[in-house]
Formats: sequence, structure tokens, C-alpha cells
Amino acid sequence: MHILTRKLINLRLRKCHRTLTYISSSTLSEEDLRGGFLLHENFISETEENSIVSEIDPKLLRRRYNAGHWDGVIVKYREIGKSEWSPHNRETLKRFESFVFGDSSKYIPETHILDLHEEGHIKPHVDSIQFIGPLVSGVSLLSDAVMRFVLEEDASHHVTVLVPRLSLYIMSSRIRYKYTHEILSNPASVNGLVINRTRRITLMRRSCETEPREDVEKPQLILP
Ligand code: OGA
Ligand code: MN
Repeated sequence: MHILTRKLINLRLRKCHRTLTYISSSTLSEEDLRGGFLLHENFISETEENSIVSEIDPKLLRRRYNAGHWDGVIVKYREIGKSEWSPHNRETLKRFESFVFGDSSKYIPETHILDLHEEGHIKPHVDSIQFIGPLVSGVSLLSDAVMRFVLEEDASHHVTVLVPRLSLYIMSSRIRYKYTHEILSNPASVNGLVINRTRRITLMRRSCETEPREDVEKPQLILP
């Protein structure tokens, strides 16, 4: 292979940073995943994870895990919202924000921090269509997890994905609007791999709904 071609391929691979481990029930659900779910593995380092957990733990540990969310979607969780960070963590959070939203300013400024107990899980739901915009993103700390998407109008189309610790994901397009998403309870399996989630913290960032709804069908992020 020509040296230049090889270099270009390496560059492309490095830019992608993703190995999706998933299993899908149909071509449609696989296409919808590849068109609307972006995974960036090792988006943060263990050192950055450690530093963020040290900053949020004093607040989280003061709270007890709730048995269930007010609308029953999340089981065994605690949560806080946070917008002020220590200088070092602010850099990491800024990188997360720019990666997801780029130049747009249409996002909820606060980071939603969700701490899920190892015996907890998140039931199938779609994030508010009314208040939350086209991008829903999470950075996973402390544990791998398994996420499942089910097409609302026909549950025979579903796809199950491994969401690794330290990774960043973005849901957009049909996977954000047409599918429910959920975090499976233990033990969860994906493509023959069994995952026993431990305590997991997600840093969630979401865009706000300021655009007319016809924008929804336009893919925001496309995997090649
Ligand atoms: C949510 C949600 C997923 C996650 O908080 O609405 O779906 O990865 N969280 O924790
Ligand atoms: Mn959600």
C-alpha cells in the first residue's frame, strides 16, 4: 500500500475512536444506530475520571439512593446538577461540551450527574421531546453499562450496545426520537459479552429544544 494512503487510513481511524459492540435485531435498527449513536471510547482518562469523582462524591455521598424516580423511570439512583467546577475539571467538562455542541449555544448549561447503584437500572424512555433538543450525550464513569434501544412503533426492531467506562456517547436523529433507551440491570449481555455493572456515574449534557420540530429528521451526526 502506498505510504500516503496508509497514513490517511491511520489518521481516519484515529479520528473515529470507536468500536461499537452491539447486537441488533434488524437492518433498520442497525442503520438507525449507526446513523444516530456516536461512541467515542476513552474520551476521558482514568486520571480525569478520578478527579471528577473526587469533586462530586462529597455531594453525592450525602444523599441516599432513591428507590425510584418520580415518574418511575430510574431505579436506585441519586442525582445532582452542577455548573461550577474546579479549574482542572472545568477543562475536561469544556472539552466534553465543545465535542458535543461545537459552536452551538443551544444546550442546557448544567451538567446532570446521575449516580446509578449497581442494583439499579434505567427503564425504557425517550428524553423529553418538549424541553430537550436533538442531542443527548453522556460520559460514563466507574463502570461499563449496557444500553438498549427499542423502536417505539415496532418493538421487534431493537439494538443493544456496550457503553464502556470512560467513553462518551451522543444520541441523535432517529435513535434519540424514535427509539426508547434504557440501561439494563445486572447481569446484562451484549453480543455474548456478560456485563456486571458496578456503581456508575453518568455526566449528561443535553441540547435544549429551541428549534421547530421539523429539524428532528435531519441527522445531526452521521457515522460513516
Ligand atoms: C437519562 C438517561 C442514560 C445514562 O438520564 O435520561 O437515559 O447513560 N441516562 O445514564
Ligand atoms: Mn434518557
